[in-house]
Amino acid sequence: MAKQKTQIITIVCNKGGVGRSTTAINFAWSLANKRKNVLVCDLDAQANSSSTLAKNYNRDVVENGKNITNLLKSSGDSASDYIVSTRNPNIKLLASTLMLDSTEVEMKSLLDTNIFRLFIHFFSRKLKSQFDYIIFDTPPQKASVLTLNALLLSNWYWYILSAEDQWSLDARVVIKKIIDDVKKLNPRIKPLPILLTKYVNNSAQSREMKKVADDKFSSGVFNATIPYSNIIAKSHSSRQSIHEYSPGSMVAQSYDKVALAVGRFVNKKKK
Ligand SMILES: Nc1ncnc2c1ncn2[C@@H]1O[C@H](COP(=O)(O)OP(=O)(O)OP(=O)(O)O)[C@@H](O)[C@H]1O
Ligand SMILES: [Mg+2]
Repeated sequence: MAKQKTQIITIVCNKGGVGRSTTAINFAWSLANKRKNVLVCDLDAQANSSSTLAKNYNRDVVENGKNITNLLKSSGDSASDYIVSTRNPNIKLLASTLMLDSTEVEMKSLLDTNIFRLFIHFFSRKLKSQFDYIIFDTPPQKASVLTLNALLLSNWYWYILSAEDQWSLDARVVIKKIIDDVKKLNPRIKPLPILLTKYVNNSAQSREMKKVADDKFSSGVFNATIPYSNIIAKSHSSRQSIHEYSPGSMVAQSYDKVALAVGRFVNKKKK
């Protein structure tokens, strides 16, 4: 059977704390459990998804220098030279470090007109073909050169909303402006339906948010949502995915449902 095209997804929302990194980690894990090969690229200097996913963050990412900071400083290497293993054999990681913010500032001072095309160069066709999904976890800053690079490479942008946080909905105005600009250079990029995280089932605010988001975003909203659960914080404290920390929990099952829904959505769009 012919290999399916790699689906490249950039998770967006310039409002902090909505659940982007939690989604990058656990959505990737759900896909990997369905035998998909996944590459997670962490573009945030907080390195939350990197330190949770990496098999040995200090040794592989910090000491051995396999991270995106060194990729950016290289003279045109392939991203594949900087990818590390995770505890899941089907997930690979392009990790971030705390140094990433200063690297981004240095890059901007270069005033290089090709600065937005770096990822198109770093992610060769051969590298992309090794993965079914490439997922970019992004920082909350709205004007990140790295987020723009990711969007220029992506087939999909994926807006994450925190169901109890009205302000995460307001952030869409900024994202719309960024996406409008990106489309001039990458016209094939499309929105995935919105994912609502931290959804509280019996809350009027969560229900209202779903309705409003469905109304305001042309892509609509995934019916599957991620419930609010303290297990998430506990899994982060133990630096584990939810599937490792509490397999079979509501949250793990919800991420599995979201992975199924995304798979169905991207396959339907291809036909
Ligand atoms: N479904 C959930 N239920 C409860 N808490 C959650 C849920 N998802 C994420 N959180 C918590 O919300 C906080 C923010 O989550 P996360 O770091 O994934 O968001 P983010 O958008 O990546 O944030 P940042 O802007 O810092 O990158 C964390 O403390 C996390 O434990
Ligand atoms: Mg994050």
